[in-house]
Amino acid sequence: MSILSGLFSSDMAIDLGTANTLVYVKGKGVILNEPSVVAYHVKDGVKKVLAVGEDAKLMLGRTPGSIEAIRPMREGVIADFDTAEEMIKHFIRKVHKRTTFSKPKIIVCVPHGATPVEKRAIRQSVLSAGARRAGLIAEPIAAAIGAGMPITDPTGSMVVDIGGGTTEVAVLSLGDIVYARSVRVGGDRMDEGIVNYLRRQHNLLVGESTAERIKTSIGTARMPDDGRGIAMTIRGRDLLNGVPKELEITQAQVAEA
Ligand SMILES: Nc1ncnc2c1ncn2[C@@H]1O[C@H](COP(=O)(O)OP(=O)(O)OP(=O)(O)O)[C@@H](O)[C@H]1O
Ligand SMILES: [Mg+2]
Repeated sequence: MSILSGLFSSDMAIDLGTANTLVYVKGKGVILNEPSVVAYHVKDGVKKVLAVGEDAKLMLGRTPGSIEAIRPMREGVIADFDTAEEMIKHFIRKVHKRTTFSKPKIIVCVPHGATPVEKRAIRQSVLSAGARRAGLIAEPIAAAIGAGMPITDPTGSMVVDIGGGTTEVAVLSLGDIVYARSVRVGGDRMDEGIVNYLRRQHNLLVGESTAERIKTSIGTARMPDDGRGIAMTIRGRDLLNGVPKELEITQAQVAEA
């Protein structure tokens, strides 16, 4: 039960996701939910944080040379240490204005499949970002508690979490994980699939955000019954002559991708 008691004595909890970061503050609920993206302004080799979260995501894939938008999390864990730290600091500062904790005790969700090195990196980032103490909790346990599953009962509860970077399946009982598998495949891989399909089949270059928009608006893994499904118009760059091009893409094509 140590995991659970640790969880309830924390001031703040962070879900540091590949796609989105959520911050929960005791007594207030989830008060922050923003994309895990940091945009830097780069001048003479010196980086300065320009935007974090929602504002930074808008810049992804459409930055001029002097601005760099980075997603510090890949496949569920920290891929860019410094950027992750900047991001955590920014989010903690942002929620701080609305709370009374000076040096909060923070608990962070990590994928069940994270390695010891990855776990240490996450803790270290949270501590450097100003936490008094940093604890970790396995994502499937956190998800099950959030979903109100009876995880402390001697019955099995199953959690399936498809995120941006990882997909986790876990069976919980008596407050702990009985069985879990984590694969480093998630929504990002689907976006990549769409980008690659459009490049191969249509010589059209689209960015990550366009691919994500296609996925969330008309995406399907199942071939539509009429062999076509709903269509949407997208814009990208023609790889043959470099000019912008518009194209209609159907559900059937997304399923194929
Ligand atoms: N309506 C939708 N249909 C399909 N995919 C969606 C939809 N809405 C969001 N997604 C995808 O879900 C993913 C984000 O999920 P989530 O916020 O749970 O990930 P995360 O917790 O940040 O990632 P991880 O747990 O892997 O670190 C993104 O790939 C996003 O494109
Ligand atoms: Mg997640």
